[in-house]
Amino acid sequence: MALQAAAILPSALAIHKEGKNSASFKDSNLFGISISDHVKADKREFISRKFSIGAIRAEAVATYPVFTPATVQGKKTLRKGTVVITGASSGLGLATAKALAETGKWHVIMACRDFLKAERAAKSVGMSKENYTIMHLDLASFDSARQFVENFKQSGRPLDVLVCNAAVYQPTAREPSFTADGFELSVGTNHLGHFLLSRLLLDDMKQSDYPSKRLIIVGSITGNTNTLAGNVPPKANLGDLRGLQGGLNGLNTSSMIDGGDFDGAKAYKDSKVCNMLTMQEFHRRYHEETGITFASLYPGCIATTGLFREHIPLFRLLFPPFQKFITKGFVSEEEAGNRLAQVVSDPSLTKSGVYWSWNKDSASFENQLSQEASNADKARKVWEISEKLVGLA
Ligand SMILES: NC(=O)c1ccc[n+]([C@@H]2O[C@H](COP(=O)([O-])OP(=O)(O)OC[C@H]3O[C@@H](n4cnc5c(N)ncnc54)[C@H](OP(=O)(O)O)[C@@H]3O)[C@@H](O)[C@H]2O)c1
Repeated sequence: MALQAAAILPSALAIHKEGKNSASFKDSNLFGISISDHVKADKREFISRKFSIGAIRAEAVATYPVFTPATVQGKKTLRKGTVVITGASSGLGLATAKALAETGKWHVIMACRDFLKAERAAKSVGMSKENYTIMHLDLASFDSARQFVENFKQSGRPLDVLVCNAAVYQPTAREPSFTADGFELSVGTNHLGHFLLSRLLLDDMKQSDYPSKRLIIVGSITGNTNTLAGNVPPKANLGDLRGLQGGLNGLNTSSMIDGGDFDGAKAYKDSKVCNMLTMQEFHRRYHEETGITFASLYPGCIATTGLFREHIPLFRLLFPPFQKFITKGFVSEEEAGNRLAQVVSDPSLTKSGVYWSWNKDSASFENQLSQEASNADKARKVWEISEKLVGLA
């Protein structure tokens, strides 16, 4: 059924451009939870046994945490939490910032590369000035990430929760572009920029006296090849990491992690696998020692966000209705923001090392990661190579 549904639109969208990045529907499916994914999710919810998948355990949980101020924190005496959200100027990041700010229990640091855009965005969703601060962060520059950390430390605020949310996606790019430090842009921004940021901020989180400290790295179904959406080519695959090892510079080494030819859609998916592996490696290395909850999530297909800004206009026109009416995987920005806000602050989502997803009734459950996205050995290698690339080792 899902395959049939997916097959309807590709032919309608068969607009071929020159070159290998012709804009077909192959990439668009990657962002949709399919009908069969929903069915699978429902099945998982009613299965009481636990699955062992590498280091990550998928377990059905019966939590239906509707995000309301009343469920954010139980204690009235709790001080206001401080949460840093990267990429809070649009889409999921903005919706999450709004949901948390609205409770009055969080001060949101909107870590954004475009100060004015962020200010306008905060105003447009009605966030009150006392509930947020905008601080400049360009994740495509290690200097900027370091400067952000310096500025944050100087602000004197505690760091209770860090949300690594920002991302770029270049599905139609024919040639790679690069960060200020010379790394392929998608992996450089989505993974390496966040890797450096979260490593540099870990000590601040350790020092926080907040009862539930969390580091959240937004993942995606598209990096998980155990789903239908994750199986639409080009599939995520980090291979033996030879491109990452070589520095992803596109000169003497490949710009792709696996050492292959550049493919913008795959580079994004690979970066999401790195995000999910990094979350698990953080968990293994630091959860016991620090008590910090490390988590990732797939918020659902938010087909209207700026993530698809570089896709062809017809795709952007048809993708939302396709997700809404055919796959039924569509999630509004508001709903997705509420989901991420749950992972930030809901008392029932404190388990560490978990990749959260939501079923069609919007109930959260611990989802399974693909074999590659839960490979502990790969996670360690990605971590070790990444810390060299960002200058921490
Ligand atoms: N949309 C979906 O269906 C979907 C599904 C699964 C997962 N996700 C994940 O959700 C997260 C948010 O995506 P979205 O859909 O909300 O897209 P979005 O609206 O495009 O938001 C991305 C944000 O990242 C920021 N950003 C990009 N490059 C940056 C850089 N170099 N430095 C700092 N910030 C940068 C953007 O800033 P500007 O406003 O300045 O461009 C924007 O605020 C991503 O991690 C994405 O992988 C999305």
